[in-house]
Amino acid sequence: MIAIAVHGGAGRWDEAERDAAVAGVRGAAAAGWQVLETGGTSLDAVTAAVMVLEDDPLFNAGTGSVLNAEGDAELDAGIMAGDVLTAGGVACIRRVRNPVLVARRVMEATDCVLLAGAEAERFARDQGFADHDPVTERRRARWRAARARQAGERLVPGTVGAVALDRGGRLAAATSTGGRELKRPGRIGDSPVPGAGNYATAQAAVSATGWGEFMLRMATAKAIATRIESGEPPASAAASVLAEMARSFGAPIGVICLDARGAVGIVHGTEGMPHAWRTGDDDDFNARFAA
Ligand code: GLY
Repeated sequence: MIAIAVHGGAGRWDEAERDAAVAGVRGAAAAGWQVLETGGTSLDAVTAAVMVLEDDPLFNAGTGSVLNAEGDAELDAGIMAGDVLTAGGVACIRRVRNPVLVARRVMEATDCVLLAGAEAERFARDQGFADHDPVTERRRARWRAARARQAGERLVPGTVGAVALDRGGRLAAATSTGGRELKRPGRIGDSPVPGAGNYATAQAAVSATGWGEFMLRMATAKAIATRIESGEPPASAAASVLAEMARSFGAPIGVICLDARGAVGIVHGTEGMPHAWRTGDDDDFNARFAA
C-alpha cells in the first residue's frame, strides 16, 4: 500500500483562486505519488509534494509567502521521518527557495532539529542553497492593503503540507509556511516544531494548518498521532482533536493525516482547505476545496 495526502492551507481563500488552489494541490500530490509509485521513500514523496507548493506563488509557503509586520517574508518549514523519528526544521529563514529542503538538510546533515533566522540562512548557504527572494508583487500589494486595515491580522492563508506512506511501510510528514500575515518579526509558528504542526511516527503522519500559536500550545499533531497509535481511525482522531481545540480556543484549523495502513484523515474547521489525496485503492487523485 502506498498513499499520499497534501493540503494547501485552511485559510480564507478568494473564490477566484479556489480552482487554481485545487489544481495546485493535485499537482503536488501527483509529484509525491510519482515518487512512491516508482519505489521512492515517503520522505522523498513529501519533500517533492511540498516543493511543488512552495514554488507555486498562490500558496503561503516559499515563493509567495505572506509578509510580516515589516513587509518581510520569514519562512518556517519542518519535516519528519516516522520510522526513525528524525526531524528537521527551519524557522524565520528569509531568502531561500525551498525551506523544506533546508529543513531536510538540517535533519540529515546536523545534530540539530531546528535552526532559526540568520544562522539558518547561513547554514543554507554553506550547504549550497542559492539566494532567493520569496517576496512576490502580489503579496506586497496584499500586505499594503492588510496593513492599511489591520484586518488581515487574523488571516492564515495557505500553509502547505504533505503526509505519505511508502512501499516499505514508512510514514513521513512535511509542512511549510510563511506563517501569519502581519506577524511580529521573529515569530515562529507551529509548522517547523515537531508535534505542533508536523509529526510522524511508525504509525501516524500529520500535517496541520491554521493558527500556529494554538497548535504549539496544544501539541496538535502529536495529540492526533497518539490517538491514531492507539487504534483510532485518522479521520476520527483529527476530528476529536480539532473539536477539543475549537472548545479550548475557538481556533479554526485543518489537518491531514495518515496511518500505517494508508487510511487518510482530512478534517478542517474552516470554510475550505484545498487538499488532494490518493491511496493504493484509488484509480486517480481526489482533489477538493473543502472536505
Ligand atoms: N500554521 C502556520 C502558522 O501559524 O505559522
